[in-house]
Amino acid sequence: MQNKISEKEGIENFFANITSELSIQYVSMLDAFAKEGNWLSKHFASKFSQIDAVDICDYADTYKKNIEHPNAKFHVMNNIEYISNCNKTYDLILLDSPMGDFGGQSAEHFGIMEQIVPLTQPGGSTILIFNTSLEPYDYDAKKNQNWKAIRNKFYGKNDTSKMSSQFYITFYINYFRTLGLTVTHYDMFARRSTQAGDKTSIDLNLVIVKK
Ligand SMILES: C[S@@+](CC[C@H](N)C(=O)[O-])C[C@H]1O[C@@H](n2cnc3c(N)ncnc32)[C@H](O)[C@@H]1O
Repeated sequence: MQNKISEKEGIENFFANITSELSIQYVSMLDAFAKEGNWLSKHFASKFSQIDAVDICDYADTYKKNIEHPNAKFHVMNNIEYISNCNKTYDLILLDSPMGDFGGQSAEHFGIMEQIVPLTQPGGSTILIFNTSLEPYDYDAKKNQNWKAIRNKFYGKNDTSKMSSQFYITFYINYFRTLGLTVTHYDMFARRSTQAGDKTSIDLNLVIVKK
């Protein structure tokens, strides 16, 4: 379902609505693209009692200041490295990745999605949050050719410059199924003050998966 409401409203509604969902705990959160945490992460952090934040750049001091959380640990490293050495599981995994190409095979959340499966709750539910865009900004730019290729391969299309919400929802439900995860709840909200469906807006996908 896609709602034409703002990010803040969407997040509030999501948490109001999922209280009835089965076996959701609000204990541990992995913030896999943490940065300074003041844009998106802060909306979620206060709901969880344990936070692991990861960023390849060192934003530790500003993150802790912005989040104001007594149990937030900041790990300065590549998130793939963190995940491959991690033996914890999480109730929320926040994937607030940049939309473009940020080196190697890592673009958007594509490289990390499969890696996080062992970190979802065994026999329980995990909330996954990630970005999508209906018309990704600067898709055809010369500097974005690598991203474009990775993106098209991930979605199995020759052209992903114009996408529909329904495509994304159907794609991710099937994709998670191939990873052994069943989607039990799917919401999509507009980020920032734009409306979901605005061409260049980024949408927030809030998905509950069960393993
Ligand atoms: C969109 S920002 C995150 C914003 C943040 N969630 C907030 O609420 O303000 C994306 C961040 O991902 C980080 N990043 C990109 N690739 C990464 C990787 N492979 N491992 C860890 N961090 C990465 C960048 O350094 C950047 O700080």
